Amino acid sequence: MAEQYILALDQGTTSTRAILFNHAGQQVASAQKELAVTYRQSGWVEQDANQIWDYARQVMAEVIIKTNLPPYRIAGIGITNQRETTIIWDRLTGEPIAPAIGWQSKQTSQVAEELKQAGLTDWIYQKTGLWTDAYFSATKIMWLLDHVPGARKRAEAGDLLFGTIDTWLLYKLTNGEVHATDYTNASRTMLFNIHKGEWDSELLERFNIPQAMLPEVKNSSDDFGYTADYAFFGIRVPITGIAGDQQAALFGHQAFQAGEVKNTYGTGSFIMMNTGDQAAHSQHGLLTTIAYALDGHLTYALEGSVFIAGAAIQWLKDGLGLIQNAKETANLAEKSRLEHPEAIYLVPAFTGLGAPYWDQDARGAMFGLTRGTNRADIVRATVEALAYQTSDVLTAMESDTGMAVKTIMIDGGAAANTYLQQFQADLIQRPVQRPQNLETTALGAAFLAGLRVGFWAQLSDLPQHGRLSVCQPNRDQQALMVNQLQGWHQAVAATRTFPLQM
Ligand code: G3P
Repeated sequence: MAEQYILALDQGTTSTRAILFNHAGQQVASAQKELAVTYRQSGWVEQDANQIWDYARQVMAEVIIKTNLPPYRIAGIGITNQRETTIIWDRLTGEPIAPAIGWQSKQTSQVAEELKQAGLTDWIYQKTGLWTDAYFSATKIMWLLDHVPGARKRAEAGDLLFGTIDTWLLYKLTNGEVHATDYTNASRTMLFNIHKGEWDSELLERFNIPQAMLPEVKNSSDDFGYTADYAFFGIRVPITGIAGDQQAALFGHQAFQAGEVKNTYGTGSFIMMNTGDQAAHSQHGLLTTIAYALDGHLTYALEGSVFIAGAAIQWLKDGLGLIQNAKETANLAEKSRLEHPEAIYLVPAFTGLGAPYWDQDARGAMFGLTRGTNRADIVRATVEALAYQTSDVLTAMESDTGMAVKTIMIDGGAAANTYLQQFQADLIQRPVQRPQNLETTALGAAFLAGLRVGFWAQLSDLPQHGRLSVCQPNRDQQALMVNQLQGWHQAVAATRTFPLQM
């Protein structure tokens, strides 16, 4: 039989990628398109939902055309996506009623604040595992229903549908036949009861959101429908995997055991620990979320969402003009460490601080500047900030679960930075391992899709990563790192609106 493939569609905040994987889990071809993000007002982050769909279709087509592959040799499609980003569209026309509100957008901060003021934070956390914030979809839906003229009335009449990006793409790919999501994406809306595994009617009532707008929730590996004739070369290919991008990365790392941790250094940094059957309760500002759902069985995770990681490197390039490209940062950081070993800190609280601090009003700052501080030092401080933030989340995870993390698995753009990998290992005094293929998110979506169609029969049949690069911690750095971490915590405290100890 002719060789078959799985197509993964990875719809991220700044780009959309389609990647074709073979049975060995190798990347056979890929296509990518950068996506526009607009900032109509200060703090607002929006995207054009139609462009998201257009580009998704284009990159999928490009992969097929590039490889000259008859589309029927695609056994299944897996979708993974930026999470929380919210779209509402008309059930009949499929037209969005407003731009998509991005996960980073602060335009609904006031709505979140009101829920907190009403004393609902713990109630919401008990149900959803999420700490009330503009980050999640619920406040974005509330805002759209209240601000787009006529929206509430149309929603109440059953004419509007809500979806995160996965749901939107699925709806478009199936030509409006399917309105569904998976448990991982549902768990990021702040409307989903992660313990009962269903939309929470009390939350919906309190937030005044009609249930009819919400998609059906399915397993992450499931039958989500088929591509409509027009959407995919006239071929009906099954869509059989969906997961939010951070959960897909965990799955791509095959972190199936409780206690296993991955960190994706993307725009932000998302550190996730598999906690197995247990929805761990966090005392340290971590989120409790659904890692994946297979055959109706939910696996949970703790997540530390750090808002600025790779975005800080981007700021070095686009904001400060200190570097031409991200690749330079490893050498510059190394040079700084050799020439100016004294500590220098950048707290990249550009949009407030996420886990474990959750302070939306904190702002960024640098500490330890001297007359001798140069470009390389600022670059080093920025790279090291990614590691410090990760370390804070790990500490929180260990104290929440009582589990000792043995190693962390990394992926995402900045994972290619060898200085960061070594510094991270030294700082947490644990090995840091990186797969050769850093497209772990797309691979996770491919695994989910492939498992459903029997491309891989079961978890144990999933192809192992090729050679891993493992960075062992330098034990002789331990004392220095303890010191530097203390300095980091002082720096963070100085940026806080209400300084608190971790
Ligand atoms: O929660 C937000 C996250 O899913 C976004 O990921 O990598 O597209 O920035 P990314």
